[in-house]
Amino acid sequence: MVKSEVLVLGGGPGGYLAAERAAQGGKKVTLIEKRALGGTCLNEGCIPSKALLNSAKLYEHAKDSAVFGVTAENVKIDHSKVIDRKDKVVKTLVSGVGMTMKANGVQVVMAEGVIKGKSGDGFVVEAGGEEYAGEKLIIACGSVPVVPPLPGLREGIERGYVLTNREILDKKDLPKHLVVIGGGVIGLEMASYYSMIGVPVTIIEMLDKIAGPTEKEVSAVLLKEYKKRGIDFKLSCKVTSVGEDCVNFEENGEAKSVKADAVLCSIGRRAATQGIGLENLGVYTERGAIVTDSHMLTNIPNVYAIGDANGKIMLAHTAYREAEVAVNHILGKKDIMRYSAIPSVIYTNPEVASVGETEESAKAKGMEVKTVKASMKMSGRYLAEVEKGDGFCKLVIDTKKNRLVGCHMIGSYVSEMIYGAALMIEREMPVDDIKELVFPHPTVAEVIREALFMV
Ligand code: NAI
Repeated sequence: MVKSEVLVLGGGPGGYLAAERAAQGGKKVTLIEKRALGGTCLNEGCIPSKALLNSAKLYEHAKDSAVFGVTAENVKIDHSKVIDRKDKVVKTLVSGVGMTMKANGVQVVMAEGVIKGKSGDGFVVEAGGEEYAGEKLIIACGSVPVVPPLPGLREGIERGYVLTNREILDKKDLPKHLVVIGGGVIGLEMASYYSMIGVPVTIIEMLDKIAGPTEKEVSAVLLKEYKKRGIDFKLSCKVTSVGEDCVNFEENGEAKSVKADAVLCSIGRRAATQGIGLENLGVYTERGAIVTDSHMLTNIPNVYAIGDANGKIMLAHTAYREAEVAVNHILGKKDIMRYSAIPSVIYTNPEVASVGETEESAKAKGMEVKTVKASMKMSGRYLAEVEKGDGFCKLVIDTKKNRLVGCHMIGSYVSEMIYGAALMIEREMPVDDIKELVFPHPTVAEVIREALFMV
């Protein structure tokens, strides 16, 4: 039996940061990972998709540069080289995580771990034929793609016709036509990449809007932009089955079909809690996700669940913060998890970034709010550098408290700006105090200030 003070199951952003922080706090830590350090985010999610998207953006810039007085001829994109570069980036980051673990004295076990129960030494996890015990257990086992029982879907995955986020990021041959099932974050980012490099794309989405909970005006502008770019949207359409070379769906009760030589299934993710032995401890789950309190504790004392495993907000940066909250609880430091100012970004082109309430969600909570909207064109830098698009910044203001409670943006650079709004919301800054902040000029972020002065 290998004994530790903190045992971490899963080496994604939640798990590796928890291990690092716990080790920095003086704890003896063991981290168990079955696949690759960095988890979904580094290996088959956030990072590789950004590498691909940046190549596509460069390609698009080069093609569309004449308006800026730059002529580039014979511009080409080599998809296979894009994938190679992505692999290099992933390799660098994954080995960086390994080095960080080593530098902090974390014992890393590369094997699938299964919780066996509790012994006198603590919680026991079996991995690679060895037993590991920890006084505290942090479950950070992540999530897996949802694969509904649609006829032909699983068979499609088995024969490589249907891809999930994992396979599509490694696919070196370009499809002639890509069909994306699900117009959420993964679907839109991948559709964005493929359409930018010239592959015809169809998105089939069950709802009447894309980008899920994204603010409705932002979602509408994104839809308009992508329609202009040639993506074919089938909204309010329900996929009924996957055929040999097509996806079948229903539109207004009518059976339809679209041909494709590759299909991306991106209809959501679920906590990867099956088969990890939760039942051996009696860890409580709801719809497959581990239930946690504001310290990330489960119903079992000394057992924590962070990241996608608790299904609260499936974003790497949420996992990071949850990791810190769990470790602080272990170290006896005062801290609690707050979810009201967690930003979210969709790395389409234009980018989408949001934090806090929308007008609808605020009103549903009984808040009295007003909204103000500033065009990105109010920013001198934006106008100087960006030619196309109807980007804007929309703020949601709590009129009773005179506070910013939501910020929703679409346009270039917004992914890098949103944390500013998150900070204002998290710190509950009065609008009048925010107005006194000095923003650097010229920057696109000034549009937030412009919008504030419309309140
Ligand atoms: P999602 O939940 O974002 O979107 C799924 C979409 O599929 C929804 O619009 C839903 O209405 C639709 N859908 C569900 N069943 C369907 C059906 N049978 N036919 C047609 N449409 C259907 O899920 P997605 O895109 O798979 O992403 C999974 C997770 O990964 C999300 O939780 C997201 O937060 C995370 N992620 C975050 C990124 C970011 O922060 N930039 C990037 C990529 C993923």
